[in-house]
Amino acid sequence: MGCFSAGAPAAPALVDDKKVVGINEATVTIANYWPYATTLFDYIRRAMPWTEPRSLSNDEVYALTAYILAQNKLIDTDATINAQTLPKVQMPNRNGFITRFPERTPPNNRGAGMRDGFAAF
Ligand code: HEM
Repeated sequence: MGCFSAGAPAAPALVDDKKVVGINEATVTIANYWPYATTLFDYIRRAMPWTEPRSLSNDEVYALTAYILAQNKLIDTDATINAQTLPKVQMPNRNGFITRFPERTPPNNRGAGMRDGFAAF
């Protein structure tokens, strides 16, 4: 399943079970790379649909987030996703990151961050 429409730049597949190959960004997907499920909510709320960003209600974004996570087999199809349950979703690549500047990062914040300091698998 992709995120697509005529005239839109190439949109990545939202459901994909491919494995990451080295640091080839073309193999990165929501399921194999994103460390936090909350980022999926935040991304959809801010940027999607691409043609009408910020047009979705929070409930619609929770429902879409749940659907995409379930289609990627990261949660059960009958799981309830809301502000309490979403942060508890454990993404497969949660610990796949290195802290780029550990000397500048408070101890309890090491390992955070996305697309910066691309994880070395
Ligand atoms: C409510 C419906 C939609 C949802 C839930 C959705 C969700 C997403 C998500 C989660 C991503 C990030 C995927 C990734 O980086 O792996 C994404 C990217 C993208 N989507 Fe959508 N999308 C929606 C509708 C649309 C529509 C209607 C279009 C085009 C008209 C579109 C075009 C894109 C594009 C071009 C990207 C890549 C953006 C970039 O790399 O900067 N999306 N979408």
